[in-house]
Amino acid sequence: MNLSSRPLLDELRAYKRSRALAVAFKLGVLELARQRPARIEELAIECNVDAEWACSLLAILGDLDLVRYDGEQYELTPAGLLACDDEVSIAFAAYHFYCYEAWVELPERVRSSGAATGFHERKIIDPAFAEAYLRAMDVIAKRNTAFLGDRCSLRRRILDVGAGPSTFCRHLATNDAGITVTALDLPPIVSAAQRMFAYPSNYIWVASDYLSYCPDARFDAIFCSHVLEYCPQKLLVNWIGKCRQLLQPGGVAAFVVFLKEEGKNHNELNLFELSTGVNGTQLGHVCTVEEFRLVLSESGATRIECVPLPAGASYSEYLVTVAWAS
Ligand SMILES: C[S@@+](CC[C@H](N)C(=O)[O-])C[C@H]1O[C@@H](n2cnc3c(N)ncnc32)[C@H](O)[C@@H]1O
Repeated sequence: MNLSSRPLLDELRAYKRSRALAVAFKLGVLELARQRPARIEELAIECNVDAEWACSLLAILGDLDLVRYDGEQYELTPAGLLACDDEVSIAFAAYHFYCYEAWVELPERVRSSGAATGFHERKIIDPAFAEAYLRAMDVIAKRNTAFLGDRCSLRRRILDVGAGPSTFCRHLATNDAGITVTALDLPPIVSAAQRMFAYPSNYIWVASDYLSYCPDARFDAIFCSHVLEYCPQKLLVNWIGKCRQLLQPGGVAAFVVFLKEEGKNHNELNLFELSTGVNGTQLGHVCTVEEFRLVLSESGATRIECVPLPAGASYSEYLVTVAWAS
């Protein structure tokens, strides 16, 4: 996509459509239309909204081909039914309902690169946001569980860095009592994850910043999914070096990471990179495949395997497994 295929004005106004869509999901307008064709008065009463405003919102959903109006009732189109049956769309609608707030801060964040409290860290104490954020991560990660299970064999003592809902490692610990998982994330994320999901007894949480984490013993494996993108470019060497320090000789690290690919369009990944800055405390960086390999080689990695994950709801995602000699 570039500006020759989409008018500039469309891009400038895109936030309105995005917000209307997220609000329609949040207020249950789409879900009600999914259950049965409904008149505007019924939609207004059951969703507890004003009928005139609901009419306006439904017109936008009509423009997006999600609902149709037969002159009397609203019902979902096939595209609307697909959207309402898709757990990724539902989870992301719920998460993005909150995210626009973070982007309002973009001018200040762009002007000043100084560390600030990130939007996620501030907002995560709101249980509705915490649930939406962790659910969105979980829904995406669940889709990768079978692939990761086949491709990376993580054994014994595993550290899950920036675990979030810890979907894959929770799955490993639940299915193999011989594994112990230590899941590390920032304190508010840990509290929210503990409230929302059940973790088995061979699983412990550590509420800490990754860079200041100093465990008593090293790990046999590290799993680190979509965390390195939050690391500023100039600190990536330190973050990777810390992984190496935390591993036993012969241990392996498995990174799930968005990487830019040669010759491909990076619009979405560029937006994702900016979102690391508005959501977190500092601007992260999305590497190219070559750049990531180079940083790993320079860290002394003796084995680097880089495979794309099956195309999913997310952007170009890779599993990178790494071993160091010591
Ligand atoms: C995009 S989420 C990924 C969560 C999970 N690994 C997944 O793939 O579903 C990034 C996570 O990294 C955590 N994180 C970022 N910087 C961190 C740091 N310095 N120390 C610990 N956790 C961090 C965030 O709090 C967040 O939960």
